[in-house]
Amino acid sequence: MIVQLDNVRRHFGPVKAVDDISFGFDRGTICGFIGPNGAGKTTTMRILATVDVPQAGEADICGHSVIDYPDRVRQRIGFMPDYFGTYNHMTVWEYLDFFGLTYGLHGKKRFDRVRRVMDFTDLKPLAERDVSDLSKGMKQRVSLGRALINDPEVLILDEPAAGLDPRARIEVLELIQELAANGKALLVSSHILAELSKICDEVVIIDRGKIRLTGTMSEIRHHLRSGRFKRGSAADGDGATAKKVTITFSKPATDAEKLILEQPGVQEVRIIGTEAVVEHIGTQESLANLLKALVTAEWPVVGFKSEQEGLEDVFMAVTEGGLE
Ligand SMILES: Nc1ncnc2c1ncn2[C@@H]1O[C@H](COP(=O)(O)OP(=O)(O)OP(=O)(O)O)[C@@H](O)[C@H]1O
Ligand SMILES: [Mg+2]
Repeated sequence: MIVQLDNVRRHFGPVKAVDDISFGFDRGTICGFIGPNGAGKTTTMRILATVDVPQAGEADICGHSVIDYPDRVRQRIGFMPDYFGTYNHMTVWEYLDFFGLTYGLHGKKRFDRVRRVMDFTDLKPLAERDVSDLSKGMKQRVSLGRALINDPEVLILDEPAAGLDPRARIEVLELIQELAANGKALLVSSHILAELSKICDEVVIIDRGKIRLTGTMSEIRHHLRSGRFKRGSAADGDGATAKKVTITFSKPATDAEKLILEQPGVQEVRIIGTEAVVEHIGTQESLANLLKALVTAEWPVVGFKSEQEGLEDVFMAVTEGGLE
């Protein structure tokens, strides 16, 4: 395994942020790291990124201990934290160039690397923009670019899709898939299983510092079909659920795609003749607003059917949530 954690522990006083967790994953793999708020995702990722040290256990990346050889590990990883940080009076190009410098890249090599990262993340149109003036979505892209500047073998991405609009979210997920296809190993966190389910090879669900479930997506779907996960009495969080929504119109639906994609909660849209099949993650209210937006825009809606995707049930069954 290119990334391997064994009995890693990090407590903060009485809070067992990470409590003896073990898991690993290999090259060319996207490992979804899923858990509710306060589950221990960021703490685990910070340890792997060598910015925090565990109190017990061991974690290796590319065969090097993150505790004993953090410098070696840093050369081989890219870390995208869940915040961007403050950088004033720096253009996107200067920002990436600066981080290239911190990895000891010089001259043409650094220039070429910055250009390649910009190409890959589609940042070229923003090259001369001040990083501090960018929108959240643009900053996420720059942050991913920064994590790639040393061409790392392993990427640790803390909620890379959080706060993005549906199109930006899909684009970031596509970039992640491309990186895995190029042989990188990726640990990607989210608090929504359905958000990553399409791109993950493996899933690790963490809650209150403990691993609650690990497996491949197909194993998890198999368990789901066999009825292993039944939603308990756990609170519904903010009420957001993943649903597949089929909207039927009395005319071809092609032109409705853009409007649907712009609505809150919409993850993806597939148009088939007079039908739009929508993947939606959100509350009942946002679902109702989707219908309202279509009707307001005078789209002739003749059918609106939603069904539970089911993955939320897995999440609810294996996690307790609640803050300690
Ligand atoms: N430096 C710290 N000092 C004290 N407690 C901390 C510290 N860092 C994290 N914690 C606690 O550890 C627990 C896990 O936090 P962590 O940030 O790892 O969760 P998370 O899964 O990333 O949550 P979120 O989805 O909200 O980002 C929380 O209870 C948090 O308050
Ligand atoms: Mg976090």
